[in-house]
Amino acid sequence: MSSTVQKAITTDKKLFHLEQLAEKTPLNSFFCPIAEYSEYLLHEALRSQRDNMALTWLFRERTTGNIAAYMSLIADAIKLSATEKELHSLDYPFKTIPAMKIAKLAVSVPFQEKYKGIGTLMIEMAAHIATACNNQYFACRFITVDADIEHNEGVIEFYRKNGFIPNVEINNKRSKTISMRKDIVVQG
Ligand SMILES: CC(C)(COP(=O)(O)OP(=O)(O)OC[C@H]1O[C@@H](n2cnc3c(N)ncnc32)[C@H](O)[C@@H]1OP(=O)(O)O)[C@@H](O)C(=O)NCCC(=O)NCCS
Repeated sequence: MSSTVQKAITTDKKLFHLEQLAEKTPLNSFFCPIAEYSEYLLHEALRSQRDNMALTWLFRERTTGNIAAYMSLIADAIKLSATEKELHSLDYPFKTIPAMKIAKLAVSVPFQEKYKGIGTLMIEMAAHIATACNNQYFACRFITVDADIEHNEGVIEFYRKNGFIPNVEINNKRSKTISMRKDIVVQG
């Protein structure tokens, strides 16, 4: 990370817009040193979108068209233990709860160096999308993520700061990732 002072993305939010990946969108401006994230955007995201396997959203700078960040969203369902369900006041007899997963999320390095908070903003935008689904199309109670600790050990902290908690019921079986969830219903 560069030593230059980062601006809060909230200051310059209007210089960017969120759009869906399209056939002709130029993708070369995106740079993440973790090859998996660059390769996915360049070579897999469009195919996955065509096959209804993942829908990719780009956060693009209006003036240059450069990609500051992207996220790929998919439908999900998670199994919660009785204790976990209780935590969210989910008094239902079944274990499987509907969710929307952030299957991929990455911020391009030049933008990460310039701004603080793009990752957080992407999660807020994912929450808006999930709320829109809840209001109009289908129900999803949680946003989920498989936090990629293999490539980014500190990423759990990033998700914790954004309201995610680990899924105890699922995590025993995983190692390179930690399954986490964020409740998008604000308890009143
Ligand atoms: C993880 C990632 C999306 C975070 O995006 P970002 O724009 O840097 O995050 P934000 O600026 O919104 O950070 C929010 C908070 O999380 C913290 N944070 C972010 N990444 C962190 C990390 N790796 N370790 C510890 N804390 C981290 C920030 O310091 C900040 O804390 P603060 O609010 O107390 O200042 C970005 O670093 C990235 O694209 N990484 C490479 C790909 C990746 O790992 N994706 C996630 C896979 S599941």
